[in-house]
Amino acid sequence: MKRSLDTVPVSLGDRSYQIVIGSGLLKRLGELCAGLPLTHRAVVVTNPVVHRLYGAVVKASLVRAGFDVALVQVPNGERAKSLSQAARLYQAFVRHRMDRRSAVIALGGGVIGDLAGYAAATYLRGIPLIQVPTTLLAQVDSSVGGKTGLNLREGKNLVGAFYQPSLVVADTQTLESLPPRQLRAGLSEVVKYGMIADPELFGYIESHLDQVLRAEEEPLTLLVTWSCAIKAKVVEQDEREDGLRAILNFGHTVGHAIETATGYRRLLHGEAVAIGMVVATALSVMRGLCGKEDLHRLRSLLRRIGLPTSSNIGFTNIVQSIGYDKKIKNNMTYFVLTKGVGHVTVAPISDRRELRRALVFASRSS
Ligand SMILES: NC(=O)c1ccc[n+]([C@@H]2O[C@H](COP(=O)([O-])OP(=O)(O)OC[C@H]3O[C@@H](n4cnc5c(N)ncnc54)[C@H](O)[C@@H]3O)[C@@H](O)[C@H]2O)c1
Ligand SMILES: [Zn+2]
Repeated sequence: MKRSLDTVPVSLGDRSYQIVIGSGLLKRLGELCAGLPLTHRAVVVTNPVVHRLYGAVVKASLVRAGFDVALVQVPNGERAKSLSQAARLYQAFVRHRMDRRSAVIALGGGVIGDLAGYAAATYLRGIPLIQVPTTLLAQVDSSVGGKTGLNLREGKNLVGAFYQPSLVVADTQTLESLPPRQLRAGLSEVVKYGMIADPELFGYIESHLDQVLRAEEEPLTLLVTWSCAIKAKVVEQDEREDGLRAILNFGHTVGHAIETATGYRRLLHGEAVAIGMVVATALSVMRGLCGKEDLHRLRSLLRRIGLPTSSNIGFTNIVQSIGYDKKIKNNMTYFVLTKGVGHVTVAPISDRRELRRALVFASRSS
């Protein structure tokens, strides 16, 4: 077995941590955790889908390293990000006599990471959190950076905390079992990193797409490492989203609006973001920030991945949903725009008509 392993440091003073990336790392989780200042008790939070695939190997690895492990399952899907599931976790922590140095291990996608992360952030005012992301979206995005959150009936991610993990272990072998649609949706965020920070990354996805879509180990490990390095750099400069971190929202203003307008049912997050990136790039072309060829290049890559690039949701619905976006400041929508593949800028948009023109342009200029 190949034991390749990459490490990306996230430097945040006393909240610094490592992201360890490689194939076959679940078997070594115990040994990786043993290097942290933890007591021997740990709770693994997962769901039935991930548990069936990886629960046993994770538990065995932790037990081998001397941990007394309890495993808690929450329901599969977004509905697990609720206050009632957080309460179930707190109870499990009490039952397992978790103390301030006992670890919560989040084994699963972004849903598990956000829920277990929030529970770890708030139990005893914060106990160690280890993220073990098993979806591409979680490996390249949600497990890194310290955002945790729960949904309320009134909206997504309305409750949350900034809380950095003590360690992130991304086993790229777990991506082999991921449904292809989930892999493609995760790739949307990788394309985003290429768009906001690195033309070379963008070019790499273009030239290695077939291998990536076959979930081949080497290109996937490279893409996860590359994405984490970009996100880590941004988070290091702006941990709490006061400024620069906003660039990570490229494609997300319209993406979130589409998710809201469709009740979060029709499209996966990465699919909505793909459409949002096309609209943001169309707007950038209209403002003369980049050329039409950038729009064509982005759209053709997204299409090759199998992601949607336009939607039939009405303009009014999209604009209305943008109005509810919590990132709105002083009645002004800030848009992350592109100055060409690899370069971003943030600019306010106050004119709805400009947004309408961009939505029309994005859907017509294919
Ligand atoms: N905290 C952040 O910074 C941040 C960033 C982006 C997204 N998010 C959140 O992440 C969530 C979405 O995460 P997601 O896309 O990972 O969805 P998810 O966690 O729901 O996982 C998608 C599906 O894949 C299954 N799954 C997970 N790993 C698998 C594997 N290896 N093989 C087979 N199936 C597997 C899951 O059980 C689930 O059914 C949203 O709630 C979103 O708000 C958080
Ligand atoms: Zn996203």
